[in-house]
Amino acid sequence: MSGNAKTAVNNTADQYAVIGNPIHHSKSPKIHGEFAAQSGEQLEYSAIQAPLDEFSATVKSFFDHGGKGLNITVPFKEQAWSLSAQLSDRAKLAGAVNTLYQNDKGEICGENTDGIGLVRDLTENHQVSLAGKRVLVLGAGGAVRGVLLPILEQNPASITIANRTVAKAEQLAELFAGRGTLNACGFSDLNDAFDIVINGTSASLQGDLPPLPEVIISKATVAYDMMYAPDKTIFNQWAETQQAVKTFDGLGMLVEQAAESFYIWRKQRVNTQPVLEMLRTFD
Ligand code: ATR
Repeated sequence: MSGNAKTAVNNTADQYAVIGNPIHHSKSPKIHGEFAAQSGEQLEYSAIQAPLDEFSATVKSFFDHGGKGLNITVPFKEQAWSLSAQLSDRAKLAGAVNTLYQNDKGEICGENTDGIGLVRDLTENHQVSLAGKRVLVLGAGGAVRGVLLPILEQNPASITIANRTVAKAEQLAELFAGRGTLNACGFSDLNDAFDIVINGTSASLQGDLPPLPEVIISKATVAYDMMYAPDKTIFNQWAETQQAVKTFDGLGMLVEQAAESFYIWRKQRVNTQPVLEMLRTFD
């Protein structure tokens, strides 16, 4: 499904959309369509491909034409952060925004629901608590920065950020200093097993596996790949080979971050389970 900001004027239902480039692969219209049907909310949700150099004009046009809320995806989350007149504390620290709406004054407000999505998927859908756990996060890019605060808010025993470029892991640990026990290192420095290992690198997008020491996975380790794919991701395949007790991909995170955006816009909590089941079965 694709659309453009101008379609918003002709419809009576409240208009929402996801903006990205490319956008044809996005599952968000389907997910929010299901949320709307389930809750009886009168809304339409489309997908908009913004030209790479016209993100901010596309956002402005959408809201000027009466649009109510936007999700933002790759590669525009940082630009969405910059154009937001108001940012939540979570979004401020995340350095990226995936949800936009307007306040009473018509100002554009930015929120980041990715980290909440990850935490809800782990703790509620999979019943894996983060409290008191030794957590390893692989990667130190925008995706990892976006989820660190909600993970820290679960009070893990520690978070170790390991990255190919160690300096970037160190910068992230510095940025979140004082909010929990944070360590930063390279992959080859890892010499112990963790309770939960979260892959936030974009390596799997290129079908790559970071050079990870086998020792990080024990028979009690839960592995979580923030990416998702119809088949088991390469990281989760590797973790299974190392006998991780469980492996999960990021489809649940995607649905949970969408549910949180839906809540911000509509003040309605939806049941994510049927939507997750539908995506697993039919996509
Ligand atoms: P994103 O928004 O997906 O986080 P990003 O900010 O470009 O994208 O960050 C990508 C992350 O994946 C980085 O941590 C990157 O490591 P570097 O900081 O060293 O570049 C990591 N990454 C990408 N490809 C990788 C690979 N083949 N092996 C290991 N790490 C990889």
